[in-house]
Amino acid sequence: MSDECCVCLLGLIFLSSLLTGISGVDETHVFISSGENVRLPCNNALHDCSLTVWKYNNRFRDSATVELIGLGIKKKNTESHERLSLGSDCSLNINNISTEDYGFYRCQQWTGVNRDKQHGPDARVYLHVLHVSQTEISAGLSVTLFCQLFSYTGVSCDDSVGSERIELFWVDQTGVKLTRSDSRYQISSSSDHCLITLNTTLLNEDHNREWRCEVTQRDQVQTSVTYTVKSSGEKTSHQSVY
Ligand SMILES: *[C@@H]1O[C@H](CO)[C@@H](O)[C@H](O)[C@H]1NC(C)=O
Ligand SMILES: *[C@@H]1O[C@H](CO)[C@@H](O)[C@H](O)[C@H]1NC(C)=O
Repeated sequence: MSDECCVCLLGLIFLSSLLTGISGVDETHVFISSGENVRLPCNNALHDCSLTVWKYNNRFRDSATVELIGLGIKKKNTESHERLSLGSDCSLNINNISTEDYGFYRCQQWTGVNRDKQHGPDARVYLHVLHVSQTEISAGLSVTLFCQLFSYTGVSCDDSVGSERIELFWVDQTGVKLTRSDSRYQISSSSDHCLITLNTTLLNEDHNREWRCEVTQRDQVQTSVTYTVKSSGEKTSHQSVY
């Protein structure tokens, strides 16, 4: 009787780890800020990458599939080919990520004499790109910062929606979330919460102040972009995003 109970409990734990581990097995979510370099893992890699294929679907479901790497060789006719390389573990490296690069990537391994048999399922990778931009600083020193997560279709950046629990927010330099109730800031967001806007009026004491836009998945920070206020003289400021 108690043995049966134990087996039953183990079964439950296994099931729950399977459910939460979906993104870790053959489906991976990768978050990166624009301008950085990224490595997309090929989880079903063989020791030889000469039969590796990487495919990409840009932005929307049902968009045309682009082959980036064909049987271990980089295709020269793609927009991003100069920034791509195939890693020794068959991963796909992309340098200087831009907001055009987000989407759905798939790694396949082919095998057989005629290279016509697929080894294992596709390794699926969703690439999410975080990007911050700003308006000109106006005469009244008001500035608006936009922070956007570019994701394949169907993603919501609202914690309460979607299984990946992706969230986007602005924090101050001590890591405290900036909220609507803070009178210094006007914070607004798009309906899917994947674009959050921070509007504030710069003060003298803001020199070197940092505001950071963070994206979290299941409460873990995945990537962030920091905006630093720099003032030289009275009214000029510029951003430094890193
Ligand atoms: C990265 O890409 C941007 C355009 O997206 C370009 O302006 C910049 O020069 C590139 N940086 C490097 C180091 O290639
Ligand atoms: C930002 O706030 C300032 C001051 O409240 C306002 O004048 C300006 O229109 C706002 N800008 C945006 C883009 O919301």
